[in-house]
Amino acid sequence: MIDTVLIWIEKNSRRWLHDLQQWLSIPSVSTDPAHADDLQAAAEWAQFYLRSAGMEASLIPTARHPCVLATTPEGMYPDSAPHIVIYGHYDVQPPDPLDAWKSPPFSPTINRGQIIARGASDDKGQTFCHLAALLAWREISQQFPLRVTVLLEGEEEIGSPNLPAVIRELKPQLADASALVISDSAQFAPGIPAITSGLRGLIYYQITLTGPNRDLHSGVYGGAVANPATALCEMIGRLHDSSGRVTIPGFYDRVVSVDAELRRQWSKLPFSDQLFAQDIGVNKLYGEVGYSTLERRWCRPTLEVNGLTSGFQGPGAKTIIPATASAKISMRLVPDQKPDEIVVAFEAYLKSMLPDGITMKCELFGASPAVVTATDSPAIAAAINAARIGLGAEPVIIREGGSIPVVNWFRQELGLESVLLGFGLPDDNLHSPNEKLDLDCFYGGIRSSALLLDEMSRAFAPIK
Ligand code: BES
Ligand code: MN
Ligand code: MN
Repeated sequence: MIDTVLIWIEKNSRRWLHDLQQWLSIPSVSTDPAHADDLQAAAEWAQFYLRSAGMEASLIPTARHPCVLATTPEGMYPDSAPHIVIYGHYDVQPPDPLDAWKSPPFSPTINRGQIIARGASDDKGQTFCHLAALLAWREISQQFPLRVTVLLEGEEEIGSPNLPAVIRELKPQLADASALVISDSAQFAPGIPAITSGLRGLIYYQITLTGPNRDLHSGVYGGAVANPATALCEMIGRLHDSSGRVTIPGFYDRVVSVDAELRRQWSKLPFSDQLFAQDIGVNKLYGEVGYSTLERRWCRPTLEVNGLTSGFQGPGAKTIIPATASAKISMRLVPDQKPDEIVVAFEAYLKSMLPDGITMKCELFGASPAVVTATDSPAIAAAINAARIGLGAEPVIIREGGSIPVVNWFRQELGLESVLLGFGLPDDNLHSPNEKLDLDCFYGGIRSSALLLDEMSRAFAPIK
């Protein structure tokens, strides 16, 4: 049967592309209240698509953007077949800066074997691979090879504030699931599929310093009052030392060093610092002394300034001491750092550096730990087989530096382990202008998903 499904996928290649383009045309920017209706529309689009694959699909409303839940009706999977859950997110990052796009972000454009649009890779394009595979199975066979539940959310890019409650509510329905499949990462390189076995955690802050009660003339007041912009820069400047290490007291206390064998395996992956640097347009890479680029990104914790705002930003000059300065600061965590401890240590450290005459507000937007998944499970073996055939090469086991907090919530709430099988590529421009998905990855992703359903139907003990 799987062979016929793969042929059907091939036959319908234009149709899949057309359908994805339709979904990508809906500007489902979750952080922007002006797009709330578009989130609803994108959710409904997925709901109807899943219905056309024979699934029972509904929207779960939340305080902000709905989840899409689709289940396989009884009779549409073999009795005693295992149950898997597929998770994806249909929300996207804001497209700005708009003038850096070569084609409009919500007018999906095909160019040189790539589909270019916001969400093409993160995560509508990769999620759609599963939707298309389900539809292909349905059209070829009366049954899926196993029982599938699809759960899509519309708040991933804003930290999934309402997903934990939804997961808790679905607990009874998902209790017998054997695996959670997530395609929201990437292959290692073109032609090298990857299973991701670890992700970093994330802590995100907005720090606001306030000095005088209004912007002041910098000649009249300069020298007599602390400048919040200067203070903020000084504080930020002290967050790293000269060897690229974060200076927050205790930051590294619980960091687990990766064992030599794993480091050795990583060092054999075909990775070029030079090409990596070239792609992002820097003449030299930078990071914590003593670690390779892959190690710096996959298993070392970091702190980054994501945004910095203060004072006069218009054209020309204006002589002021700004009343406030603010920064968005995030940290990527690795095992076994505890978000709660880092949060306390970070705020205390900032406080200790705060000059007289300035007050500080620390707003915490989210804190989630790193995850590492087992690599010797039947679910991972199924994914390796699916990716080998679907993407045409032997997959490697990697980690990623990005964060997917839901992996941890599913583990905690349901004891459900994730299979992170990404179809995109490292240069897909996630969160950047000109986000894209290679058509090879797209079609390979659909094939891999169809194969994964087949492989997983045999991977687990039958359900009584
Ligand atoms: N899909 C990404 C995470 C990702 C990117 C994993 C690349 C592996 C490789 C996800 O949509 C994302 O952007 N996550 C955010 C965190 C979230 C809480 C806003 C991130 O990592 O910054
Ligand atoms: Mn994503
Ligand atoms: Mn993202």
